[in-house]
Amino acid sequence: MNERVTTHQAEEDARNEALLIYLNDRVVPKAEAVVSVYDSGFMLGDGVWEGLRLYNGVWAFLDEHLDRLFEAAKAIDLDIGKTREEVRTALEQTRIANEMTTNAHARLMVTRGPKTRPFQHPSLSQSGPTFVIIMEHSQPKIPRPIKLATVPHLRGLPMTQDPKLNSHSKLNCILACIAAEKAGADEGLMLDVNGFVNTTNACNFFIVRKGAVWTSTGDYCMNGITRQKVIDLCRANDIPVFERNYSLVDTYGADEAFLTGTFGAQTPVSHIDGRQIGTGEMGPMTMRLRELYKKLVDQQ
Ligand SMILES: Cc1ncc(COP(=O)(O)O)c(C=O)c1O
Repeated sequence: MNERVTTHQAEEDARNEALLIYLNDRVVPKAEAVVSVYDSGFMLGDGVWEGLRLYNGVWAFLDEHLDRLFEAAKAIDLDIGKTREEVRTALEQTRIANEMTTNAHARLMVTRGPKTRPFQHPSLSQSGPTFVIIMEHSQPKIPRPIKLATVPHLRGLPMTQDPKLNSHSKLNCILACIAAEKAGADEGLMLDVNGFVNTTNACNFFIVRKGAVWTSTGDYCMNGITRQKVIDLCRANDIPVFERNYSLVDTYGADEAFLTGTFGAQTPVSHIDGRQIGTGEMGPMTMRLRELYKKLVDQQ
C-alpha cells in the first residue's frame, strides 16, 4: 500500500490546537471562528485567498501576495473592505496574538460574505465581505519526493475560470488530486488545453533537462510567486531557464522535476505516471535552487 504523502505536509505541532483566528476585525479562539451557512464562500466558493509564509519575523514576498490578492478581488468585483495597509495590520495582529516569530503559514481568505438568500446572485451578498486569517505553526515535513500522475482534468482557458484566480472554488484541482490518488500518486499533473504539461493541482511544475530549467509558458497556470522567484533566480545566476510548451515525452525523460509553492518552496518529484525521474531523489539543480531561494528569503 502506497504511504499517503501530500505536498502540504507539516510536522505535528500541539500549539496549533489553541490557535487564534482573525475573523472580521476580531481575533477569536479557533472554536469560535465560525462563519454563516449563508456565507458566499461556503455556499458557492465565491471568494479569493492567499497562502503566505513567515520566516524570521518577515512575511515572504508580502508585496507580491498583496498585489495578487487585490488583483484577484478586483477581477471578481469583490471589495475586500480593507486597504493594503489594513491587510498588513490584520496579519500582524494575528501573528502577535499567536506569538509567532518564524515558520508560520497563513491562509488569508476573503469571501463575498453572508447572503440574504441561498442563491448565486452576488447582489444577495449584502453585508460586506467575510475576512479570515488562519495562521498555523508550520514546519514543512514532506517525507520523500512526490509521485505525480497525469490526470484527465485540464488547466482551462482564461474565459471559463481563469486559472490565475486563487478562488475559493478549487473543485477542478480537487478532482485532479482525487484522480491522482486513485492512480496511486500524491498529486495530479495537469495538462493544458493543447496537451502540453502545465502544472499540478496545488503547485507549479518544473523540469530540468541537460542543465536547463523548463516550466510552462505560464498561460494556463496559477501565477505562482515561488514560480516567478525560481525563474528570476535562474536568470540572476546564469542558469538557462525556459517558459515554453513541452510534452509528457520531455517530462518523463527529464533529469529532475520539482514543484514550487509558498508552503514547500521547491519540492522534488520522484515519479510521474510510474516512470522514475532521474535518480528518483532530489537532483543537484533542485538542491541548488532550494539554496538560492533560501538565501533570497533570508535577505528580505
Ligand atoms: C493551483 C496552485 N498552483 C500553484 C500555487 C503556488 O503559488 P505560490 O508560489 O504563489 O504559493 C498555488 C498556491 O496558491 C496554487 O493554488
